[in-house]
Amino acid sequence: MKIALLGHGTIGLGVDHILKRTGGPEVTKILSLIVDDEMAGRTASSIDDIVSDPEIGLVAEVMGGVHPAYEFISKALSAGKHVVTANKAVAAAYFAELTALAEANGVSFRYTSAAGGSIPWLMNLARAKRVNPVLALSGIVNGTCNYILTRMEEDGVPFGEALSDAQRLGFAERDPAADIDGADTLRKLVLSLNVAYDTALREETLPCAGIRNITPEDLAFGRALGLKVRMLMKGGRNEDGSVYGFAEPVFLPADSPEGCVRENMNLVSYVGTESGLQRFSGYGAGRYPTAYNLVEDILDAVSGTAVPYTGHIAPVAVRNDLLMRRYYVRTSALPEVPAHIIESTDGTAAVTRPVSPADMHRLAKLLLEKDPLLFFAGMEEGEEKC
Ligand code: HSE
Repeated sequence: MKIALLGHGTIGLGVDHILKRTGGPEVTKILSLIVDDEMAGRTASSIDDIVSDPEIGLVAEVMGGVHPAYEFISKALSAGKHVVTANKAVAAAYFAELTALAEANGVSFRYTSAAGGSIPWLMNLARAKRVNPVLALSGIVNGTCNYILTRMEEDGVPFGEALSDAQRLGFAERDPAADIDGADTLRKLVLSLNVAYDTALREETLPCAGIRNITPEDLAFGRALGLKVRMLMKGGRNEDGSVYGFAEPVFLPADSPEGCVRENMNLVSYVGTESGLQRFSGYGAGRYPTAYNLVEDILDAVSGTAVPYTGHIAPVAVRNDLLMRRYYVRTSALPEVPAHIIESTDGTAAVTRPVSPADMHRLAKLLLEKDPLLFFAGMEEGEEKC
């Protein structure tokens, strides 16, 4: 089976190199906006040039973005080609549509490298949930945020400089707003919840906040209490059968497993009814780590040994109002925070009494209209040490 690549940038080039180095399936066509020397003799003129080629059995989409990635993937699946992608934006936005299209055409749609970079997280989640209902899942899934936080904490580097370094190193998205405002973490959460619960949640239905406004003073608040900030996805099953899910920065013990994660590493975990806690760690971004995981998907699709990610997709209720946690809120609009939810304050920032993520994210949205520089983060305690 021959392969076509859609995109020949950071990840695409990595996939091309790894397939060549390991003698994997041959890449015979590449569609890319920017044509480079390594594409010589393999440049496709259009997506139709690829989908009409009977030799090509699999299309690897690594161009990023939602459009035209969605249209290209749809064409490939409709033409009976397997599709693998590292593109969380399109996989999360069109999860139900692409999953159904793959099924209707008897091919696989795989996106393991879209959440966790190099980590076979979604693959293991898909296997785990067959015998081991998932009670909760969480983790650090954005390498850019983790890199920025590490550089700020350890080297006192300003936010903007750390972000520029993350862009230069190839971790950050083309538009890094998706990283620093939490959307990238949220999309990986959507994929994780959809796989864990055989559903098709949409990212618009889940609350999300990022680290864009974090300051050295916020980090100092945590340091004084032995806490570090990490950008986390959090999800799971509520007791009433509904699902919760949100993405936000969190203060947690510096010596906790998440607190010990540095630079562009990721750490993801789930708790299963039978397995208990399972943790997975590895590089969450970067050319070869991400390309490695995508190549694993290619090999699984080609050999036909793949575990389906989802069974019958069914709607599930989302409730983020049942879980309660304390929050740190730093804002010039502190007088607007209802007094009855404040546990303590120094006049600049406050720690709340336990409130639900739904209420906190709603309040933060209102306060951000008054103070666009507001920063808030969940607060977690934990016994486990790294
Ligand atoms: N921008 C993403 C990150 C790339 O920093 O994690 C990997 O999905």
